Amino acid sequence: MSTPALEVVEFLLTASIYSNDRSLDENDLPPAIRRVFWTGAAGGTNDDTDDASETGDAASTGAGFGRGRRHRGGISRPLSATNTTIREATGVDRPWNAVSDLMFTERDDFSGSISLTERDLAERWYLERTDADRIQANPTLAKHFEGHEDLAFDVDYEAAREQNRPIQADRVWIDGLLQEYFEDEEDEEMLDLVEVRAPEEVDITLDDLVLTPNQESEIEKIAKAIEHRDYLAQIGLREIGKLLFVGPPGTGKTSTARALAHDMDLPFVEVKLSMITSQYLGETAKNVDKTFEVAKRLSPCILFIDEFDFVAKTRRSDEHAALKRAVNTLLKSIDNVSLIQDDVLLIGATNHPDQLDAAAWRRFDEIVNFPKPDTGMRSDILRVITHAMDIDEFDPDAVADATEGMTGSDLRMVMREAVLEALTENRTTLTQKDLLEAVQDFEERDNLKNMDMIDGDHEALVAGGDLGAASDGGHSHDHNHDH
Ligand SMILES: Nc1ncnc2c1ncn2[C@@H]1O[C@H](COP(=O)(O)OP(=O)(O)OP(=O)(O)O)[C@@H](O)[C@H]1O
Ligand SMILES: [Mg+2]
Repeated sequence: MSTPALEVVEFLLTASIYSNDRSLDENDLPPAIRRVFWTGAAGGTNDDTDDASETGDAASTGAGFGRGRRHRGGISRPLSATNTTIREATGVDRPWNAVSDLMFTERDDFSGSISLTERDLAERWYLERTDADRIQANPTLAKHFEGHEDLAFDVDYEAAREQNRPIQADRVWIDGLLQEYFEDEEDEEMLDLVEVRAPEEVDITLDDLVLTPNQESEIEKIAKAIEHRDYLAQIGLREIGKLLFVGPPGTGKTSTARALAHDMDLPFVEVKLSMITSQYLGETAKNVDKTFEVAKRLSPCILFIDEFDFVAKTRRSDEHAALKRAVNTLLKSIDNVSLIQDDVLLIGATNHPDQLDAAAWRRFDEIVNFPKPDTGMRSDILRVITHAMDIDEFDPDAVADATEGMTGSDLRMVMREAVLEALTENRTTLTQKDLLEAVQDFEERDNLKNMDMIDGDHEALVAGGDLGAASDGGHSHDHNHDH
């Protein structure tokens, strides 16, 4: 029941309440609203308060986290609402038009700022039209209206704040950190080696993924460990928080790591080992060092190291002493980073566990197996990836039966194929037949691909068929063939 007027009045009320109640901080504002008021990420100088924050209210800057750091960015009071800020936060095209005929609003022609002339009236107007979900989604309003006599439903401030995404998950926050900790040029180069994502930019959640019971329990364990870091430090348990994801391509390793970042509101630092292996081999060890340095500065965060087998390969070949040095640096860096001490969760991923030697294995406290999905999992994955699609006579079990040996990524490709095929016939409703035909097409294409594959690994994987049986723990060494 959202109308443009309701959206705009809600924004104005939030801005007004927040401006006046100094016990509220940025985690009381919904992400969409605080984003438009966040300052300090740009410029990086001490006094870049270029807006109308004459109060210089530094008290509302981000409350440092981790090791008691202070972060320069913040939100200054009072929050001033203009057509631009309101549009950006609410998506309402012409904010002033939406509320100009209400008697409790006014606009200053000179500054363009839109405000409430009588907040009481505005509150009453708003409460007649809003609902519990809207208020729960906005801690500032929840605090203000908790226990309000005109309210027909309950609101709970603590729950609303708990539910609201923390500022640490916003891109602006990460940008602020990057600016603060990577100021000079040499530091900036570190950032070329890695990809840093804010949790809000990660578009996958654990709910989008179908996990094996083993994967689920490993994830739950790590979530608990993160939550209780202080306790673990206190009892001296430090060897925790280093995971290795092992499995064939397309089985959800990267997606799971990202989803963890999203769901736990941790920045995601991603690096592919092949990418930091510089053509100037001497640089590689330095790059490894820098990568871990980035993660430590951005902590708490997840450091995801993909293509971990790259280590092993280079370690075995005797060609480059420099590469060996890099590998040793990597192993040492892994030893020197800790979830408990540095707030860095390390996740490595590999398609070739057979190529990892004992020195690398030993450094991970949990190995999480990502097998090819069995029939039941494939069926569940199909349900998840089709949840927004229209499919006549959809029978995921039958499709699962026809897709033995396929991964989650393969199933996605099959579905995409089916959707595009249907579109060529101007249909947006699929049929079960479309799906089965797409499976057929995919298999034909897959056969072509295999003809080009010289790599014995791949053949072994396909021939091995459904590796679902390996999902009950242990590392899969199914493709541990000599060649
Ligand atoms: N178990 C699963 N449940 C839902 N989706 C899945 C699953 N496994 C894979 N997918 C989907 O397949 C795609 C590829 O997955 P992802 O990139 O995570 O695989 P990966 O294991 O990292 O592969 P690679 O080893 O090639 O890097 C993603 O879109 C992902 O959502
Ligand atoms: Mg991957």
